[in-house]
Amino acid sequence: MTSKSVLLDRVRPSPEQPLARPGVDRTSIGALVREFYSRVRKNERLGPIFAREITGDWEPHLEKMTDFWCSVILKSGDYHGRPVPAHLKLEDVTEADFEIWLALFRDTAAELFVPETAAVFIERAERIAASLKLAMFFRLDRAAPAGGQ
Ligand code: HEM
Repeated sequence: MTSKSVLLDRVRPSPEQPLARPGVDRTSIGALVREFYSRVRKNERLGPIFAREITGDWEPHLEKMTDFWCSVILKSGDYHGRPVPAHLKLEDVTEADFEIWLALFRDTAAELFVPETAAVFIERAERIAASLKLAMFFRLDRAAPAGGQ
């Protein structure tokens, strides 16, 4: 397996066990997605980026993101997209923007789910964000040289 396919596999929903908890279904995941993107759209830094990229109807994006989170959390297999290329084309997005994204996601998940469930969503978001950041920002020529010199 190449390092690139390892990276893509980490970004895609992994074939772990579905989260079987009361109140975690497509309806509640859809509500999380909608509340989260409503906050993203109001954010002064992220709002303009999304407004520029998603110019028409938001409904297909919200449904795609609901599919994505159902695949991640419920292992529903609904999502068939490719997150890495979708983000690689966002050339003005910085690593700091991911901190804003994650802070909004943490707050939204914590408000909509009980703490144990919110923790699962947040942990998955953090892992996927780390993989996306590697794909977007890692440069071999900026990495620390071997031996720490
Ligand atoms: C600063 C951070 C981020 C920004 C600015 C951002 C922005 C975007 C934008 C503009 C799109 C739409 C692309 C398009 O439809 O052409 C998109 C798609 C998507 N984003 Fe993000 N994103 C960020 C972080 C994340 C994170 C952390 C995750 C996962 C935990 C994520 C998951 C996705 C997925 C699954 C798609 C759909 C890709 C597809 O199949 O087309 N994003 N993102």
